[in-house]
Amino acid sequence: MTHKTLGILGGGQLGRMSAQAAEKLGIQTVIFTPEPDSPASQVAQETIVANYTDEDALSVFSEKVDVISYEFENIPVETIKYLKTLKPVYPDERLLEVAQDRVKEKSFLNSIKIDTARWATPETPADIEKTLTEWGAASCILKTTRFGYDGKGQWRVSNTSEIETVWIEIDNQPVIMEEIVDFDFEISVIVARDKDGHMEFYGPALNTHKNHILHKSTVPAPVSSALADKALQMTGTLARSVDLRGVLALELFVTKDGTLLANEIAPRTHNSGHWSIDSCAVSQFENHVRAVCGLPVLPPGRHSDCEMINLIGEDINHLESYRRDKNACIHLYGKHDVKPGRKMGHVTILKEKNDVRKG
Ligand SMILES: Nc1ncnc2c1ncn2[C@@H]1O[C@H](COP(=O)(O)OP(=O)(O)O)[C@@H](O)[C@H]1O
Ligand SMILES: [Mg+2]
Repeated sequence: MTHKTLGILGGGQLGRMSAQAAEKLGIQTVIFTPEPDSPASQVAQETIVANYTDEDALSVFSEKVDVISYEFENIPVETIKYLKTLKPVYPDERLLEVAQDRVKEKSFLNSIKIDTARWATPETPADIEKTLTEWGAASCILKTTRFGYDGKGQWRVSNTSEIETVWIEIDNQPVIMEEIVDFDFEISVIVARDKDGHMEFYGPALNTHKNHILHKSTVPAPVSSALADKALQMTGTLARSVDLRGVLALELFVTKDGTLLANEIAPRTHNSGHWSIDSCAVSQFENHVRAVCGLPVLPPGRHSDCEMINLIGEDINHLESYRRDKNACIHLYGKHDVKPGRKMGHVTILKEKNDVRKG
């Protein structure tokens, strides 16, 4: 049976686009977010504004919905465990736990035979220097294990004085150190998996960043079909091993010698899949809602090649040329304050389809 009311934890643009996709399926949405007047609440049927640890508010929320999902990966795992006692929650906390912590994420990926950059868990600046010597590397990236996004909580270090300065800034937070991958480019794959284990894929998309924030996703990515298939296969292995019900994304590096290394898991719909709203019959958001609500996921049915460009900060004030372009599909997220680095919307530029891939 299809669930008729979907609860979404998180009120950002991913929740907004999921609510819009739900609407198309005749499914209502209730948003739970600490943020008043959030992007998702502007399009959902109802919103509860409360903290993720407020059990009374969570239980009121659970009574209003048939099934629950989330659009934000830093929801406390305890919140999901609590809600699960009241209503089904998909994807479950297994995926969330892995995706919230870079050490668990890398260990899990390696345990299912998905390669990543070399990594270590230093506890002192001396550990970093020792590992750099072992690796024969001149520098590395340090990342806080939790709460990093858009390059925040990351530092490139290459000598003792840099390591010591950054160590003070890190201030006792747990960190992972990673070898710097000399990649050719970055790609991502999105998978939707339903209750029967059927999977549909989006991408790979080619992703370029500006100031560590996704700037552009190009579909199809300019990779061989063998490499694209390998990337899909890795993402499918990951989805099966967490028994995914919903959508996840895998970010990957393509190294200069054509090796694929997994970088990061998103336990949700992903910015590098926003093009699917306009270039596909079934978007990542629709397939997410389908999977969570008990419907089968459907083939994306991509009908166009495309480029998705994020509108970051002031970019939102320069839409005139896109408004005059018949191939440009503009999406704004309803955020009132324009701030540098803030994702205000995106534009997908449709192009004639030139390849045979479905997603
Ligand atoms: N080990 C690495 N080697 C080279 N570049 C990296 C590495 N890790 C991250 N980066 C670069 O930094 C970006 C952000 O890192 P990521 O781990 O995806 O964190 P987040 O997206 O959460 O900020 C990546 O997309 C990539 O461009
Ligand atoms: Mg990333």
